[in-house]
Amino acid sequence: MNNLLKRTHMCGELRTDNIGQEVVLNGWVSKQRNLGGLIFVDLRDKTGITQITFPDNSPKELLEIAESIRSEFVIGVRGEVVLRSSKNPDLPTGDIEVIAKEISIYSKSETPPIYVKDDDQVSDALRLKYRYLDLRKHHMQRNLTLRHKIVKKTRDYFDEHGFTEVETPMLIKPTPEGARDYLVPSRINPGSFYALPQSPQMFKQLLMVGGTDRYIQIAKCFRDEDLRADRQPEFTQIDMEMSFVDREDIIELQEGYIKYIMKSVMGVEVETPFPRMTYKDAMENYGSDKPDTRFGFKLIKINDVVSGSEFKVFNDVLNSDGLISAICIDEGGSKFSRKAIDKLTEQVKAYGLKGLVWIKPEESKINSSINKFFDQDALSKIVDAVDGKNGDLILIASDTAKHVQDGLGFLRRHIASEMGLLDNKQYNFLWVVDFPLFEKSDDGDIKAMHHPFTSPKIEDLDRIEIDPMSVNANAYDIVLNGVELGGGSIRIHDQEVQKTMFRALGLSDEDCEEKFGFFLTALRYGVPPHGGIAYGLDRMVMLLAGEESIRDVIAFPKNQNAQCMVSEAPGKASEEQLAELGLELRE
Ligand code: AMO
Repeated sequence: MNNLLKRTHMCGELRTDNIGQEVVLNGWVSKQRNLGGLIFVDLRDKTGITQITFPDNSPKELLEIAESIRSEFVIGVRGEVVLRSSKNPDLPTGDIEVIAKEISIYSKSETPPIYVKDDDQVSDALRLKYRYLDLRKHHMQRNLTLRHKIVKKTRDYFDEHGFTEVETPMLIKPTPEGARDYLVPSRINPGSFYALPQSPQMFKQLLMVGGTDRYIQIAKCFRDEDLRADRQPEFTQIDMEMSFVDREDIIELQEGYIKYIMKSVMGVEVETPFPRMTYKDAMENYGSDKPDTRFGFKLIKINDVVSGSEFKVFNDVLNSDGLISAICIDEGGSKFSRKAIDKLTEQVKAYGLKGLVWIKPEESKINSSINKFFDQDALSKIVDAVDGKNGDLILIASDTAKHVQDGLGFLRRHIASEMGLLDNKQYNFLWVVDFPLFEKSDDGDIKAMHHPFTSPKIEDLDRIEIDPMSVNANAYDIVLNGVELGGGSIRIHDQEVQKTMFRALGLSDEDCEEKFGFFLTALRYGVPPHGGIAYGLDRMVMLLAGEESIRDVIAFPKNQNAQCMVSEAPGKASEEQLAELGLELRE
């Protein structure tokens, strides 16, 4: 064990102002180069890199040690800051170097399985397995710091606004948020299981019943669902609830919060109030309940424009009350060849579409995949309906409204991304409001679109049981650049309405008692009108960091198969553990 040289500066800190000072740096060796006696070492910590130089006239012992060090060794160096002869404009410390006088090797490293370099080409699997090496990269440390700052500023803001941070339990009865639960067997109550919270929803409402008035928590949530770039089985919410408020109070406070975060963390001024869009408009115009408004390509319904042709595909859809919509890609005509359009057609099949029709208006004529059925006149009507011009690409989908909206919703964003139109320094926040209270699951059952504690709009209340699909919710989502950042609602605070809601969801009185008896009981003892919201912290950090996946802003995320590659969780339980829990595994 070598002695610790107490550091005086971080590796990203030194500038020409420090020239002449004796300093001590500690860190990891990013690179060692031996130019025949003259040795350079790039020393790295989370703040950056400094070049350490061992001139060839250094004491022999010093040169010997410098010669022996390799990448990822952890060392301390004492030396003098001098002006660098060949400057490195790519590094903030690139104008100086440190001439080493003393070195201490704290620990050696085997050749690392991944390079600690922001732009390494290594597979995600290796990055996740050796996450501690991956975390040494500058952008990963930057992301963790950004996350920390957002959490700190969040706490500051809500503290200023009368919120109390309260922890809610992790071992609970299931809270229905629409995903599968992670279950934890109880040893003391054999045969019984806790669920890990999908969110603190019921507990935060109980806190309102308990007089907490304004609650916040940076809360861990667990959902056993299929993973995507913005979904992890274990994620973090900025979760809150407020008493004696209506939707406008909540939205105003949240806009103040986002404005504060953007200014204090990102140095970016955002305009409030944010635009609002109804769920219906979002679906019709953008094919998504989380529209990305940084670019156009809106969906335009053309049912009327294309009626009366001989084209069976359109006519079938018109006869079955389906939807025919188009998107117009400005200047997309030359960018998307027939082959590229074929590829898009394949991709939209995942959204239930069977095909795509294309039209390319050009100077001489209008080309299209439906020339057989539509003459130039009829085609030019379609072009006019979508405000198309020569050089554009028009893509048309015809099917059920859901398939058309899902398919074109995907396409507009996919194409914008391919065309390089997604500027991650542009922050388009917006609210989506007036969601339906219910939606139908694939097997036709009615389920809550948000969760069953969401209040219907007062004016729709009496239709819950007779015409549930027409009822709107007093719910709101906040969207940033096509990502659902958060969602919330005004809650039901009347036990009769809550019971009606459960009934509409097909829950029998016994089911309700078994699942939510404790909650319904609480609603008997004086409940303030209340509402709240939860943001996905991981998504917020991802978007502000300009990353593509929330994995890059979580220190130890799960892989596609919900495994922790570092610790190799989940693992097997021993026979003793299973016996103690009264569990037996099926073969
Ligand atoms: P909701 O289910 O919409 O609402 O979740 C709130 C926000 O949490 C984030 N989120 C996720 N982030 C990463 N991985 C996941 N698997 C994941 N699932 C959700 C999203 C989402 O907007 N209790 C309600 C909130 C409320 O009504 O107050 C709730 O959990 O950013």
